[in-house]
Amino acid sequence: MATKILMVCLGNICRSPLAEGLLKSKLDKNEYYVTSAGTGHWHVGEKPDSRSIAVAKKNGLDITDQRGRQFKASDFEEFDHIFVMDTSNRDDVLALANSEEDRAKVQLILDEIFPGENVDVPDPYHGGDRGFDQVYEMLDKASDKLAERL
Ligand code: 4NP
Repeated sequence: MATKILMVCLGNICRSPLAEGLLKSKLDKNEYYVTSAGTGHWHVGEKPDSRSIAVAKKNGLDITDQRGRQFKASDFEEFDHIFVMDTSNRDDVLALANSEEDRAKVQLILDEIFPGENVDVPDPYHGGDRGFDQVYEMLDKASDKLAERL
């Protein structure tokens, strides 16, 4: 059965859709299922933010088929790995964990390149386009490492 991976941020429209698109593009679709969710409910059913769509497109990735969904406790049963974009997402996800096994599935995505340093992928929502380029670069590097390791 495919390994199931969930990317999580706050809104599920800026960072985690990019993380999903990037990791998907680096893994064999027959072996890995990758999707994303937000801890918040505001953007359920929506497409990714136009600025995330644009930075992905500029780099040859199409993320327009993604739709927002909210993280839920049963995701701990469904997914093998849960990668969170920042420490606040980690707190929100861990608050819904029921066991040590659940908690062990959760990792900050930038731990792949800065292990143990608690580095966040900054939320680009209220900033300019440059923030989306930076987020893309960080997630590209982290997902390269992840694709090698998984
Ligand atoms: P994301 O960015 O967590 O990277 O998707 C955000 C998008 C929307 C909101 C917050 C963060 N919001 O408050 O609506």
